[in-house]
Amino acid sequence: MTGTPALELRSVHRIYGFGSSATNALDEVHLTVPPGRFVSLIGPSGCGKSTLLRLVAGLEQPDHGEVRVHGVPPAKACAAKLIGLVPQSPALLPWLSVLRNVTLPQKINKGAARRRERIAGFAERDAAPSAPDMRELLVKAGLGEAMDKLPAELSGGMRQRAAIVRAFGLRPDVLVMDEPFSALDEFTRESLQDQLLDLWDELKTTVLFVTHSVPEAVRLSDTVVVMAPHPGRIVDIIDVDLPRPRGDRLFGERRFHEYEDLIRDRLRRAWHGEAA
Ligand SMILES: Nc1ncnc2c1ncn2[C@@H]1O[C@H](COP(=O)(O)OP(=O)(O)OP(=O)(O)O)[C@@H](O)[C@H]1O
Ligand SMILES: [Mg+2]
Repeated sequence: MTGTPALELRSVHRIYGFGSSATNALDEVHLTVPPGRFVSLIGPSGCGKSTLLRLVAGLEQPDHGEVRVHGVPPAKACAAKLIGLVPQSPALLPWLSVLRNVTLPQKINKGAARRRERIAGFAERDAAPSAPDMRELLVKAGLGEAMDKLPAELSGGMRQRAAIVRAFGLRPDVLVMDEPFSALDEFTRESLQDQLLDLWDELKTTVLFVTHSVPEAVRLSDTVVVMAPHPGRIVDIIDVDLPRPRGDRLFGERRFHEYEDLIRDRLRRAWHGEAA
């Protein structure tokens, strides 16, 4: 691989607590993600997926090792708004309309573009980072009619879509999503997957996506990272070599199910603590 990776974790350890009650949330984690890739993290509860996302988003520091986003520490990447975070539950401001919620980050982060230009190797790739038209993105996400409503007037799925659109608003180069669709019904989930793939395709974002759903991981990802707990670690990295766009027809294809079986097998081993 040439060029600076979008994400790089080198020998990362994260330990919570001390002594006999210490939890090895992440142990010797190495991960390199080239720009523009869609990477999913999957693994049993407690294997460190959210911890890994928090380290990438600069919300926590590793105890050992290094995390780099486009070659710089996460805090610097965050200040330049290179990173967009979609948390598990969408935190929209209840007193603002959908449109004002999603445009707020652009308004309060005008200096981000300048900081972004200072990050080596980034300026030329994103020379004129024109902010996307938020109305257009909302329409694409099926929220055209809901733009002027308050969050309380929306369904859970609509709020989740608004949070995704908001995260895309600053054209983050790295979009980090923690089980964004887990609370949604199957059809809303598939429709949001479609919309996420459309936006990803259009904006060429690098995505780090946590899910517990094997079909979701296979459908969305270029790479699926399988993790295991005690200690939290990466046990397998599987590239999903399926053509895009990945529409509904994919679910009927043999190769899709072969990837599902492979990942389920690795997850089963992770559950039972076997080496991969
Ligand atoms: N702030 C914290 N203080 C102490 N222990 C923590 C803290 N955050 C996470 N842990 C522990 O670190 C381990 C990894 O937690 P993490 O939330 O990253 O798991 P996860 O893979 O996201 O799980 P889930 O699928 O349930 O969301 C767990 O054992 C958890 O109890
Ligand atoms: Mg989690």
